[in-house]
Amino acid sequence: MEKNSSGYFSWWQRPDLCYQDDQLFFAGNTVQHLIDEHGTPTFVYSGQRVAENIQRLKTALNATTLKDRYSILYAMKANRFQPLLQLIRQQKSVGIDACSPDEVALAVKCGFHPSQISFTAGSLSQKDVARLNEFDGLFMDCDSIHAIRTWGELNSGSEIGIRVNPAIGVNRENNDALQYAGAVTTKFGVYKEQFLEALQVAEQYKLSVTKIHFHTGCGFLTAQLTQLDKVIETCLWFVDNCPTVKRVNVGGGLGVPHVFSDQPLNLAKWAGVLEKHFAHRDIHLEMEPGEYIAKDSGILLLSKTFLEKKRQTLFLGVDAGFNIAPEPAYYKLPFQPAPLTDPSLTPIEYLEKVMVVGNINEALDVWYEDALLPDMSDEANLVLINAGAYSSSMASNHCMRGEFKEILLD
Ligand SMILES: Cc1ncc(COP(=O)(O)O)c(C=O)c1O
Repeated sequence: MEKNSSGYFSWWQRPDLCYQDDQLFFAGNTVQHLIDEHGTPTFVYSGQRVAENIQRLKTALNATTLKDRYSILYAMKANRFQPLLQLIRQQKSVGIDACSPDEVALAVKCGFHPSQISFTAGSLSQKDVARLNEFDGLFMDCDSIHAIRTWGELNSGSEIGIRVNPAIGVNRENNDALQYAGAVTTKFGVYKEQFLEALQVAEQYKLSVTKIHFHTGCGFLTAQLTQLDKVIETCLWFVDNCPTVKRVNVGGGLGVPHVFSDQPLNLAKWAGVLEKHFAHRDIHLEMEPGEYIAKDSGILLLSKTFLEKKRQTLFLGVDAGFNIAPEPAYYKLPFQPAPLTDPSLTPIEYLEKVMVVGNINEALDVWYEDALLPDMSDEANLVLINAGAYSSSMASNHCMRGEFKEILLD
């Protein structure tokens, strides 16, 4: 960290989220104005940031030979706020990755055609399949032999994908909770030793396996791209052992920085890894990022409820708990707190170590364990950044404190 406090607070600032004249601005508004207008707790999303994130992905891919043979499918589990889905619908050639029949119905309500939706879910039931069959054109990725049978019973003769598990994963550094495939056996996908049987069952139901799908973890940044390279290399075994494959879905997992020591994902290098493996294959590529598209588009507006030292720890309480944005508590992914007035004007030796906590009666209700903040005695509010994904979409009404607002700015 730099000697003055500006380094600690500058890593997340960008032209549309930064301090100007001592005030925090987001998407052209002062955050104070947003709080005055909408109250707290409120999730505020920047539509422009979402569009920019999508465009950045496209620009990186368009600079490769994969240019005309890829599709981006937004993983709507990250954030299904309807105005945000409608905005994504307006971006050229972006589809949807859905993981429940209700998600499919919502995507269709927001203007997506079922043929733009790829469905990947575990624990598929007959009831799920009956509902999914209402959406003509939807593409099914089966993540188990059970799913192939359940789908095949009502959809004989259709094309399917198979989600595979390469027993190796790529995820945020040192965060195994974000790993979907690896040394530990998981429920996700068909393993190598089951693959032949999976193909036989597909044949039994006259299903043509035209896609291989894998998603092996979340939150990877540039340092993990060598691991992504190995994951793809391993998954090519499945592709090579399935002659009917026309598409490969490489999943999501692209991360954004969460702490000052994180570096943003180098998209040119990421696209380079994909190009290395697929440039010479006659394959259409799919990817289904959620976090990368939505997470840094959102902030959470909060009010301070108390500031109190207990033993050696200074607690700052806010008017919402982990139940409305569970990632920091569940996955230990901190959402950086930011005061409304510019903290970088405070010399670093005057910053205090603060534990930011919520209003839920659970020990895990901690937003940020050791935030460095200026004196917050006179501050009424605080925002958390990176609240645009896996926050409102995972919210619960635990302790009956589930109320919040959501706003999409242009
Ligand atoms: C199958 C699948 N695809 C895509 C995603 C999106 O992942 P991310 O938001 O990390 O890009 C997930 C998230 O868990 C997933 O399970």
